[in-house]
Amino acid sequence: MSLDEKTWAELREIADRYPEKRSGLLPMLHLVQSVEGRVTPEGIEACAEVLGISAAEVNGVATFYTMYKRKPVGDYHVGVCTNTLCAVMGGDLIFERLKEHLDVGNDETTADGSITLEHVECNAACDYAPVMMVNWEFMDNQTPESAVQVVDDLRAGREVHSTRGPRLCTWREAERVLAGFPDDRADEGPAAGPASLAGLAIAREQGWTAPKGESK
Ligand code: FES
Repeated sequence: MSLDEKTWAELREIADRYPEKRSGLLPMLHLVQSVEGRVTPEGIEACAEVLGISAAEVNGVATFYTMYKRKPVGDYHVGVCTNTLCAVMGGDLIFERLKEHLDVGNDETTADGSITLEHVECNAACDYAPVMMVNWEFMDNQTPESAVQVVDDLRAGREVHSTRGPRLCTWREAERVLAGFPDDRADEGPAAGPASLAGLAIAREQGWTAPKGESK
């Protein structure tokens, strides 16, 4: 097993957060990715051992969700939303431009190991379409040009911020946060931007309120 003692201890720590230990599997797999750069066979065995379930059961989860990667991910995971709204607003163009610029196909990593490009499904940020995600941080209202600038800045080691504020970290650092080990940057940036609150502003102007639920 290649996982070190610290990782084993943290896997047990995650499992112990839950009344049913196996509820911790999803964050445990994120921790494996933060350490190994992907979900490795060793990571699957470790999760199974800590949770007292079979490797096949862990494998079933790890292959079901697209956020778990079996191939090594680059320093930064760039996801371009190509669901309907983003696609028609320019997401398809952004994805095509990045594939050409980075010389990779979908779910492939650049030769220098810096960027993994993937088309992703709706990120529930359609009000800021077209949206790109870098390690699951939002890059709102992108264009092919701005997307190229983002990946060029990342590859050059320049500091890049999400359009919502936070500084972008590496994919492995983000995976550690998803495992439930905060990086204390959760409050950087707004909780909700103007586009997300437009409906609320209109409702207030019009005096609209939600209907009261009937008590039974
Ligand atoms: S369609 Fe792209 S965020 Fe919803």
